[in-house]
Amino acid sequence: MDPKESAGRAAAARVEPGMTLGLGTGSTVRWLIEELATRHSQGLSFTVVPTSRQTAELAAEYNIPLTDINTIEKLPLTIDGADEIDPSGHLIKGGGGALLREKIVAAASDYLLIIADEKKLVPALGQFPLPIEVIPFGHRQVQDQLLWSGLFAQVVLRQAGERTFITDQGHYILDCKVQRPLSNPYQLENQLRSITGIVETGLFIEMADEALIGYTDGRIEHIFF
Ligand code: A5P
Repeated sequence: MDPKESAGRAAAARVEPGMTLGLGTGSTVRWLIEELATRHSQGLSFTVVPTSRQTAELAAEYNIPLTDINTIEKLPLTIDGADEIDPSGHLIKGGGGALLREKIVAAASDYLLIIADEKKLVPALGQFPLPIEVIPFGHRQVQDQLLWSGLFAQVVLRQAGERTFITDQGHYILDCKVQRPLSNPYQLENQLRSITGIVETGLFIEMADEALIGYTDGRIEHIFF
């Protein structure tokens, strides 16, 4: 089985009857949604807070009940994917462009379970370009500032075909390749958060509680942070 599929399907067992949970975005989460749809059709009742339009549409196709994040105070669980996971459980997210809603939902959750294939485990974050969400007004100035900062080797405005990629919140994404793997993600996060025009970064520091990793040989590993 595809390791993303085994991780996604295995995570569905964590959904308890009557639960309202946060539902992430991406290709691993698609498998989770498929498995949840089967369990829902077999009588498991639960509600999800989606982290993107894409996830909301997919869940709705399967008749999975959805609710708005503003209707809940706290979520017991969110299950989401990641682009990179370091040994401390710090993450890079946003490859799918949903980082802002994902971070809001993760922050509202008591427990963040990450589902991924083994390729996402890295000794240090930074091979994957860090997605940074910016407001369209003055995005050029933010891009220049990030380049001049010396923090990044490359800062690229994300495209969707011929057009600029637009997030669910109507923002742009700058994909930023760090000069070298991150030894101190806290420092970078603080530096970035002080730049006007940046809405959010794809660095998820100390947010994940557990990673459920699928391996090509069929194994599933649980890593606790
Ligand atoms: C969405 O913006 C991202 O944060 C996703 O969670 C991430 O890209 C998921 O990766 P996979 O598609 O490999 O599961």
